[in-house]
Amino acid sequence: KIKIIIDTDPGIDDAAAISIALTRPELDVQLITTVAGNVAVDKTTINALKLTRFFNSDVPVAAGANSPLIKPFEDAARIHGESGMPGYDFPEGYGEAINKTAVEAMYDVLMASAEPITLVPLGAYTNIALLLREHPDAVAKIDRIVAMGGALKGGNMTSGAEFNVFTDPHAAEMVYKSGVPVVMIGLDITLKALLSTESIETIKGLNESGKMLHALITHYGDGGAEGVPMHDVNTIFYLLHPEAIQTKDLWVDVVTEGPANGTTIADVRGAYHDGKTNVAVSYDIDTAAFNKFMIDSIAAMPR
Ligand code: BDR
Ligand code: CA
Repeated sequence: KIKIIIDTDPGIDDAAAISIALTRPELDVQLITTVAGNVAVDKTTINALKLTRFFNSDVPVAAGANSPLIKPFEDAARIHGESGMPGYDFPEGYGEAINKTAVEAMYDVLMASAEPITLVPLGAYTNIALLLREHPDAVAKIDRIVAMGGALKGGNMTSGAEFNVFTDPHAAEMVYKSGVPVVMIGLDITLKALLSTESIETIKGLNESGKMLHALITHYGDGGAEGVPMHDVNTIFYLLHPEAIQTKDLWVDVVTEGPANGTTIADVRGAYHDGKTNVAVSYDIDTAAFNKFMIDSIAAMPR
């Protein structure tokens, strides 16, 4: 089993990623930590708890940063609704976050683990950057960081910046420069591998999980007639099907100030950083396999 820690801001596509991660037998989710992003951290924490409750999972949830390292916090409620997970009536009684911060909880889980753990950030990288800064001894316990965010080309916030990196560009820069292996699951693939309108219809009828995810997806402000991007799910897909996503090693910098802030700049010709690399950047994906993965994963959910 692949041991992972999910750091997240649910968020509709986060909810789909978490649902799949909690229920796929190949994955062992050790911890879920939350961050401010799509909505404020008190809401992303409640949403993570609603999902662990929905799947009757005992994976602990720890609340993390309520704002980026330096930039002021701005949410994405226009895309994910005021609650972050609109459209489905989750039952009350979803329990509480554990009595540790996200950074403390990640540190404890990492240090207690015999083998290294993969970190899977699905929101701004604020908690991850704080962990790396405050606990350099934890680095040896991190297998790699498979992170949704950034892009080789184009943005979904500005013409250059993707939302997770845009939310906390300083954190992204720290993560990319940390020396920990990073896989960038960016917009180049997540905007390609749309969950088709047909797949969305199929999901609805599969089971209660499909009904829940279908309800969230139909309240999603992202996507169009051809389908919706399920950005965060691509990280989980990559963990289980690396053959379906192409990556190349590049040096990636982050613009942290000014109108281009949040833009990831990849040194595609090795001209600026002398051929050194710090990130495995995804650039192509098998869209049909991604759709099949989502449907098969949901169909196999326990409820
Ligand atoms: C990212 O931004 C968030 O709104 C999504 O959940 C995803 O993590 C896509 O740019
Ligand atoms: Ca997210």
